[in-house]
Amino acid sequence: MMVDCIGSRGLDKVQFPALAYQTVIEGLGKGWQEWSELPSEAQLDEIIAFCDPIRKKAQSVVVLGIGGSALGAAAVANALLHLRHNELPEVKRNAPKFYVEDNIDPERMQALLDVIDLNRSYFIVITKSGETSETLSQFLIAYDALKNLLGDKAREHIVAVTTIGKGTLYDIAVSEGFKIFGVGKGVGGRFSVLSPVGLVPLACVGIDIKGLIAGAKKAAQYCTDSDLNVNIALMMAVLNIEAYKKGCNISVMMPYADSLKYMSDFYAQLWGESLGKKEALSGEIVHVGQTPVKALGVTDQHSQIQLYTEGPFDKVVTFLSVKCFRTKCEIPDDKKEGLSFLKGHTLNELIDAECKATAFALKKAERPNMTLTLDSVTPQSVGELIMIFMYQTAFAGAMLGVDTYNQPGVEEGKKATFAMMGRIGYEDKYKEMTAVSGQYTIERD
Ligand code: PA5
Repeated sequence: MMVDCIGSRGLDKVQFPALAYQTVIEGLGKGWQEWSELPSEAQLDEIIAFCDPIRKKAQSVVVLGIGGSALGAAAVANALLHLRHNELPEVKRNAPKFYVEDNIDPERMQALLDVIDLNRSYFIVITKSGETSETLSQFLIAYDALKNLLGDKAREHIVAVTTIGKGTLYDIAVSEGFKIFGVGKGVGGRFSVLSPVGLVPLACVGIDIKGLIAGAKKAAQYCTDSDLNVNIALMMAVLNIEAYKKGCNISVMMPYADSLKYMSDFYAQLWGESLGKKEALSGEIVHVGQTPVKALGVTDQHSQIQLYTEGPFDKVVTFLSVKCFRTKCEIPDDKKEGLSFLKGHTLNELIDAECKATAFALKKAERPNMTLTLDSVTPQSVGELIMIFMYQTAFAGAMLGVDTYNQPGVEEGKKATFAMMGRIGYEDKYKEMTAVSGQYTIERD
């Protein structure tokens, strides 16, 4: 990242962002920074006590949610479950199949219903606002299918995770008698994976949520440290934002491990939705934000790396590498001369070499990049990584002087959807839409 490594396109020095640091630290546990308050042992016990029976009896657990209500659970499950979890035979899986339905493509919804056994499926409906059209429509479809099959018992197959006392899902959950888990008032969607939003579905598939929280607690200690050389999250925020000021408008997150593939999606949402803002807290129009890009090593070496190495000087690349994979894969010996360099090596060594080789190529091409290395992918290290990303985003938002926790751009689309679907109370929004761009019509089959 620095001048002495990549020349003039690097950073001269990194400075402790005193004001941003202070703003985040003083706000911890307050307002929208309630995410820093991790669940207690008793809360974790309550979640496990409810979810473990589901783990034992269910064939499938389905998350119905979108954005912050889905990405965290998807990322953690992908990191910690067997990489072919759903394809494993039941006896080896030791947990239900896991589906995160974060889109409303009708074919995908039908495909899900085609493959799961509804009798043994549990739907976790997650929406903080309780109002999101995508999630509520998925819920209505799933609940209808369950009721047709199971009658009154259908309600036992639905779990609601939402804001207690507020929103349409909460009202339905109370009247139908669903089990409800609450989302803290000051825990925003993309910062909610370590609350019941992520923990309930993860516990239902047997993920060690106590280990996850233990890792998060460990990270919380160094992510609040005022020493830049100790505080990884603050350092990563400073490096990215300083690079951004030097023209790096793009932040690439590139894990070299399939298990961490969806951590990039999680990061992309945090970084994009939190920092991409028109207005600063001061009211000034700023239009800031660094565009997150998801990549996967080594796959994207053969797709995007050419651009990263020789294209515009507008990217900062963060590699996530893993020291110790959970399995070792030897490359068999072959007598052919051209393959002799692979002899005696493992895929573990090859992927490590390729990560370092790509970092070298970027460095040689004067492209800022950094590597965060996990010793191994465990509940603890994934909990740490989540916390690092969340603190990093909080610090970066404070450095940019924006409201890290709002998303007016997203809300606008949500309201326009309500207007188009004819929701009562959104007539003026529909008028506004049609006044500006003519007729908005819904395509019907
Ligand atoms: O980070 C956010 O706030 C958003 O991505 C939300 O999580 C997303 O829009 C879903 O909202 P809700 O949980 O209210 O359904």
